[in-house]
Parts: sequence; C-alpha cells; structure tokens
Amino acid sequence: MNSLLEVRGLASHYGRIQALHGIELEVRKGELVALVGANGAGKTSLLRCISGVQPVSGGALRFDGREIVRQSAAGRVRQGICQVPEGRQVFGPMSVEDNLRLGAFVRQDTAGIRGDLAEMYALFPILGEFRHRAAGTLSGGQQQMLAMARALMGRPRLLLLDEPSMGLAPLIVEEIFGVIRRLREQGMTTLLVEQNAQAALSIADRGYVIETGRVTLSGDGRALLADPAVQSAYLGM
Ligand SMILES: Nc1ncnc2c1ncn2[C@@H]1O[C@H](COP(=O)(O)OP(=O)(O)O)[C@@H](O)[C@H]1O
Ligand SMILES: [Mg+2]
Repeated sequence: MNSLLEVRGLASHYGRIQALHGIELEVRKGELVALVGANGAGKTSLLRCISGVQPVSGGALRFDGREIVRQSAAGRVRQGICQVPEGRQVFGPMSVEDNLRLGAFVRQDTAGIRGDLAEMYALFPILGEFRHRAAGTLSGGQQQMLAMARALMGRPRLLLLDEPSMGLAPLIVEEIFGVIRRLREQGMTTLLVEQNAQAALSIADRGYVIETGRVTLSGDGRALLADPAVQSAYLGM
C-alpha cells in the first residue's frame, strides 16, 4: 500500500446544496495527479475538504493510512498537507519574504527555515530579487510563484495546487508547469487541480475528470488526453 491520500465516498454540502457526491480518488507517494473539470465542477470544494477548511458530510479521507476527517486544518498542515489556494491569496501589504515565512508557521527549526528560503529563491529567482517588495506589487505569475513557494515552506508531503494557471499568459503557465514537473522529479507528491486539462494531463502521471461533483473518468494522464470524451468536453476538439 503506497497510497498517501485516499478519498473514499466523499460528500460535501453548502447548506442544502450538495457539491461533492461520493468522490473516489487516490494519490500515491511520489505521484503527480491531475484533477480536471469545468468551472463549478467541485474541484476547489474537494481540495478544501482535503486541507480541512471545508466540512465533509460523508465518506472517508485517509492520509498516510490515517483517518483525518476530524483533524483540524492546522493539524493537517503539521502532517504535511499544504494547499496553494485558488487565486493565490498572498498577503499583499507584506513583503515576499514575510509571506514565505508565514508558510513555515508550523515549524520551529530556524536554520531549516533559512535554508528553505534560500532554496525557494533558487527555484524562483525572481522572488529572491523582489524579496523586500510588497507581495501585492508582483505580477499575477510572480504571485503564483510566491503562493507555491509559501506552501513549499511548510515542507509538504502532499502539495495541493488549485488552478495555478488561472489568468496567466501561456509563457508564464509554461514556467509554472515546468516547476511542478521539476518538483515531481524531486519526489514531491502533488494533486493538481486545473480547468486547463491539456496542460495538466500532459504532465500528470494519472488524472481524474470531475463533473458536477462526481468523478466520471480516471486513468493515465496521456490516455485521458487521448480520450475522445475528454477531447470534446475539455480540449475543444
Ligand atoms: N461558498 C459557496 N456557497 C454555496 N455554493 C458554493 C460555494 N462555493 C462553491 N459552491 C458551489 O459548489 C459547486 C462546486 O464549486 P467549486 O468547488 O468552487 O468548483 P470548481 O472549483 O470546480 O470551479 C458549484 O456548484 C458552486 O456553485
Ligand atoms: Mg475552483
């Protein structure tokens, strides 16, 4: 059993509206898994259930073999579940470096944090260059890099990425996806949520398609890209 995350029959509601209907999904150690689907399909809801900021109304969530549904969001961060939220949500008035330090809020190892800051500046040189600037003055792509680096400062064992390509120019998207691929090569386990099915499935080991709160297809990333149902619904073919 090398599953890091197991989602079994997961349900979630907003009041009386059910957003997730019995989601079945797993992410194995070291895998890059893409979850693709249209706007409103339930992608963000699922990620928020996994990170613990949205209530679950049924089913099971296991991380490294342990049930986590009743664990707090902070407890899950401490276990290594780190989310990059949709729309980046960096703290605009704070400096780039202070945003990064916030990502390490559950850690005490000062020397390790300093080392990881240097690593983030190596991974995203522009963040090093702008480390004293207010995060709100960065471009959309730079803010996405900052949001990713902030999550990495928590030393994730599972990285949850919510639409990192949203609103970004193709060249920047390529750069962001290049980093996601590099993290995978370094052994990072990632669940990547995207409307951009082409970009996500082409770098993923495996993928899932979600429609109105249900997983409708799953399989090898490239096989899904070649699937006529995926092509007509998500790739405009
Ligand atoms: N705060 C909310 N209150 C009520 N309904 C919501 C809320 N957030 C999302 N929803 C509904 O839940 C469903 C899934 O939304 P979401 O998870 O944001 O989808 P996605 O991330 O795939 O675009 C949609 O029908 C959406 O309208
Ligand atoms: Mg969303």
